[in-house]
Amino acid sequence: MRKDYYQDKTVVITGASSGIGKELALQLAKKGARLSLAARNKKKLEEVAQLCRQYTTYVLAVPTDVAHQDQCKNLIEETVRAFEGIDILVNNAGITMWAYFEEVRDMKILEDIMQVNYFGSVYCTHYALPYLKESKGQLVGVSSLTGKTGVPTRSGYGASKHAMAGFFDTLRVELKETGVSVTMIYPGFVSTEVRERAMGSDGKPLGKSPVKEGKVMTVEKCVDIMIPAIARQKREVVMTFRGKAGLWLKLIAPGLVDKIALKAIRTGK
Ligand SMILES: NC(=O)c1ccc[n+]([C@@H]2O[C@H](COP(=O)([O-])OP(=O)(O)OC[C@H]3O[C@@H](n4cnc5c(N)ncnc54)[C@H](OP(=O)(O)O)[C@@H]3O)[C@@H](O)[C@H]2O)c1
Repeated sequence: MRKDYYQDKTVVITGASSGIGKELALQLAKKGARLSLAARNKKKLEEVAQLCRQYTTYVLAVPTDVAHQDQCKNLIEETVRAFEGIDILVNNAGITMWAYFEEVRDMKILEDIMQVNYFGSVYCTHYALPYLKESKGQLVGVSSLTGKTGVPTRSGYGASKHAMAGFFDTLRVELKETGVSVTMIYPGFVSTEVRERAMGSDGKPLGKSPVKEGKVMTVEKCVDIMIPAIARQKREVVMTFRGKAGLWLKLIAPGLVDKIALKAIRTGK
């Protein structure tokens, strides 16, 4: 990775108020990127923006609910007004669930997840694309290992992440001649607030993570992997040994991958 790759690049990050998005914002601020940060929680977003301003002058916080097309349009328009273009769009905003499908009481859980994880990425990409074509820029999608294989308790989430993969893999081919590249990120468990906020079978946040958070990848490590991979415009990044091995294993023994996924959920690591 060129040392100054991110210097003065305009990067839009959705879901920047916590977890992976927040850490990515901080690390890119240290590398001199111009940041446009989006999430719903205005206070938390502004706090992240303030932290980033210790390292770079150009930080914009745009409160955005990516489930709404007009708000995604506004995010892109405000970014272009401030920075005159966009180099990288990181579609990272996401919500999840933790419940077996047969126990889910309200289908709205699955609808909401699809709306945020999949349509949120589609809307932001739609409005950013003309500017990305101008800059020969980059699209990044933050998916999950559940976007590669079925994981129990995550039916709606896995479906949204598979949908993201289908969408962005198609764009990669369609956009090849425009110079816009597409990088898909597939993390395993990363220690963030995502599982405390995960919807249970009643649609309410779990409040407590069912995963042994101390035993899974740290958010810093996750972002340390993402930053050079995005700079190298890698096609995709599959994280963890289990994730990488699972890809190969799925070709020869898919039933074994199902067992590994079930065990990961039952043991919480
Ligand atoms: N942590 C993991 O184990 C893991 C594993 C694989 C993939 N991922 C993916 O990584 C991404 C980041 O997750 P995380 O682990 O960092 O979780 P997190 O700490 O809960 O952060 C999620 C971010 O998304 C934002 N967000 C949620 N709904 C939104 C909406 N409607 N509009 C705009 N922003 C919204 C949240 O901010 P507001 O609430 O302020 O809107 C927050 O900034 C997600 O796409 C997730 O699926 C995570």
